[in-house]
Amino acid sequence: MSVHISAKKGEIAKVVLQPGDPLRAKYIAENFLENARLVSQTRGIFYYTGTYKGREISVGASGMGFPSIGIYSFELYTEYDVDTIIRIGTCGAYTTDLKVFDILNVENAASESTYAKFAWEIEEEIISHQGNIFNTINETAKEMSLTAKATNIHSSDIFYRKDPAVPAIATKYNCPAVEMEAFGLFANAKHLGKNAATILTVSDIIPTHENISADQREKALKPMIELALESAIK
Ligand code: ADE
Repeated sequence: MSVHISAKKGEIAKVVLQPGDPLRAKYIAENFLENARLVSQTRGIFYYTGTYKGREISVGASGMGFPSIGIYSFELYTEYDVDTIIRIGTCGAYTTDLKVFDILNVENAASESTYAKFAWEIEEEIISHQGNIFNTINETAKEMSLTAKATNIHSSDIFYRKDPAVPAIATKYNCPAVEMEAFGLFANAKHLGKNAATILTVSDIIPTHENISADQREKALKPMIELALESAIK
């Protein structure tokens, strides 16, 4: 048990898929894993462990934002000896060059957040994916004939804001889309010497307000989930 996860030691696999939403974790466990067992449900943040093509995998939620993913990823890495976390989430595109359903493999996450600085004295405002899992995802996407565009992402603390302009940091670091967790995950992994990647599906185009509807989401996220699972067992 850790402070926020009630699984026993040994009940979480070395590789964890981490969607933001606990119900997405449940959906993945029930539809993609074999023999999935619920190993933690503290605060309604579900963690399941099962097998995919015979290999043990866990899937559990990060919640939203740096405070939440900061807590869960830290406890997974330090209390459960997890080696690799693959965040699977959605993002909003700042540009119509991206389309809904596009899949992105995050190379670097840029943020105005002070999370990395105050947690780990990491001063950089842009942090790379960690370890080799990003490359594994790129190779696996090719094998699956999926396009997973390697890109920088803006990791923001803010979902609702007054000024609709693209934030300066996104322009500075050439980030075509925004989400709210990758920077925190990469900071923890960098500090701890662990592996971390983030795969995102574009769920909304900010300038046009086009978005994937709630009933399209399950189907829309399937290629990303399969890419993460296939990469996780490599
Ligand atoms: N995740 C999905 N869409 C987003 C948006 N528009 N802003 C931040 N995070 C997101």
